[in-house]
Amino acid sequence: MTGSINIVDEITGHRRMRRNRKADWTRRLVRENRLTVDDLIWPVFVVPGTNVAEPVPAMPGVERMSVDRLVEAAKEAADLGIPAIATFPNVEMALRDETGSNSLSADNLINRATRAIKQAVPGIGVITDVALDPFTSHGHDGVLRDGVIVNDETVDLIARAAVIQADAGADIIAPSDMMDGRIGAIRRALDAAGHQDVGIMAYAAKFASAFYGPYRDAIGTGGLLKGDKKTYYLDPANGTEALREAALDVEEGADMLMVKPGLPYLDLCWRMKDAFGLPVFAYQVSGEYTQIKAAALNGWIDGERVILETLLSFKRAGCDGILSYFAMDVARLLAKRG
Ligand code: PBG
Repeated sequence: MTGSINIVDEITGHRRMRRNRKADWTRRLVRENRLTVDDLIWPVFVVPGTNVAEPVPAMPGVERMSVDRLVEAAKEAADLGIPAIATFPNVEMALRDETGSNSLSADNLINRATRAIKQAVPGIGVITDVALDPFTSHGHDGVLRDGVIVNDETVDLIARAAVIQADAGADIIAPSDMMDGRIGAIRRALDAAGHQDVGIMAYAAKFASAFYGPYRDAIGTGGLLKGDKKTYYLDPANGTEALREAALDVEEGADMLMVKPGLPYLDLCWRMKDAFGLPVFAYQVSGEYTQIKAAALNGWIDGERVILETLLSFKRAGCDGILSYFAMDVARLLAKRG
């Protein structure tokens, strides 16, 4: 043969990956992952009072809601088909103390919210956190003594709080505190109280991350926090340790696992799904939300497309669902597309 060589044919022969991408219909046909409303868990912030819906400064588009407004929002979420919401309270400063004692009050903000939602919107799942940080005067997730977060005493408190939250109607307890042994202790406490059907979503891999900043403002712990949480959250450098942490949670009785934050830790989503086969969720946290939102508001990225791409990436990485502050926007978008 003379003349120029057809490089593509010489090297790749008949192997052409682009054939399957040539049209919208082929792309739809070979699409491996899909995002649906069933994948979404909506994290919400609860504040005291009535008829309150105040913006969270570092999270444009997110509001802290009083219980009555939250019930309305939960109705809307259920109508859109969102399976579950995860509630986080912004507790009055006067009720916060060294040991987070308000977490054990059956009538505290989080339990009032659960009762109201379950009564008005029984079809939506309510996921509650038992970490002590919204209730402590120092912003840590556990009891602070002589500069140390005391593990076992904290576990005892959060296991009791879990039972009280289940009494109020919580469907899933999601402990975000990363104390050792908490999953087993919560499981035993729930079972002893007759709450066999209440599940546990373990924050199996929660990292000591800088992405939580806007959340701490939202629940009013930002200014309070003394030091950091590195003695109980995972080191962002460690993947294998995260897997070991998750293995313990599975052993202790976790029904579902979570990775937090989300996008920077997609490797853990995949490794956990692969290792345990349990449902795995990612928490696209406040800082991830804010990054996207801020850039979109400035017109620097196409917010809608970036949001959908990040959520789809969680699915591709093996997640069964995503906790995302974008949940309502995305549910509306998906409904519009049909
Ligand atoms: C603490 C807790 C955190 C978040 C939820 N519960 C992290 C923290 O404040 O250290 C973060 C959620 C987010 O950033 O969206 N138990």
